[in-house]
Amino acid sequence: MARVLSCIQPTGQVHLGNYLGALRNWVSGQHAGDVFHGIVDLHALTVTETPGTLGANTLDLAAMLFAVGLDPEVATVFVQSHVPQHTQLGWIMECTVSFGELSRMTQFKDKSAKKEADFVSAGLFTYPALQAADILLYDAQEVPVGDDQRQHIEITRDIAIRFNHRFGDTFVIPKAVTPAAGARVMDLQHPTNKMSKSTETDAGIIYLTDSPAEIEKKFKRAVTDSDNTVAYDRENKPGVSNLLDILSVATGTPVAALVEQYSQYGKLKTDTGSAVAEMLTPIRARYEELKNDPGELSRLLRIGADRAQVVAASTLERAYRAIGLAPR
Ligand code: TRP
Repeated sequence: MARVLSCIQPTGQVHLGNYLGALRNWVSGQHAGDVFHGIVDLHALTVTETPGTLGANTLDLAAMLFAVGLDPEVATVFVQSHVPQHTQLGWIMECTVSFGELSRMTQFKDKSAKKEADFVSAGLFTYPALQAADILLYDAQEVPVGDDQRQHIEITRDIAIRFNHRFGDTFVIPKAVTPAAGARVMDLQHPTNKMSKSTETDAGIIYLTDSPAEIEKKFKRAVTDSDNTVAYDRENKPGVSNLLDILSVATGTPVAALVEQYSQYGKLKTDTGSAVAEMLTPIRARYEELKNDPGELSRLLRIGADRAQVVAASTLERAYRAIGLAPR
């Protein structure tokens, strides 16, 4: 079974686009590989500074990952800051990557340019070294990522190859893989844009924690078009096509069959709203249960942290020995 690592930053609430686009596949894929899922809170620290929010967001995300169906006995779900080896190996990675390599990372160039006069932390610059540590600690063979993260996996490979060359074979060289294709969910108000937490208003975003009434209201107000024929055409009818796609995944009915079934936008909107509300009801219930039982949530996270730490500690030890640090 391939060792697979996915990491997610605890920044903001999980929405329907995250769920149908990725998390659902994490759940269905948890038996197909030896999967590790890290909630990378320390990476989020490069941009978050209000005291307490990072920890709160971390617990919210963890509760949601278990609520959507990740099984702590099957998948290793852990919080990055609970496993100290990440920052320990991170330093070694910083000493293995060059200033020039980090300077060429497009994400750093974009983010630091955007922050301009604002505070650009050194962590934003060394971010890829910590990410390399995340990956190499687990001997990950596969890292499913979107295109925006490919350069980070490339630099991780370069670092691992360089380290192995200097100090002898220590790290597994990972490769980026394309995640199983999920549904592409668009914003209900701006159906040409992907549903995304960076949108200014929430009106077109379905959060997994929204109540059935809120969900139904947002779908009722979904933007469509004025020609009033139900047809699937992403280009010319993005709003209607988005509803058809969502209803299709929520009910397991092919889009073509739905197109036959519906003649009115109103009915399509209400049915999609109720199908999504129904799909999310057990998830929200489990989420609330865990949020109301912090002891249970931390027990589940401890299972993950303990399992992650066994692997991480042995890899770090291997790296220390390869370098030849004085034994203690
Ligand atoms: N940089 C990734 C992102 O912004 C998050 C991340 C941190 C990550 N460590 C990782 C992704 C390790 C894959 C593997 O989404």
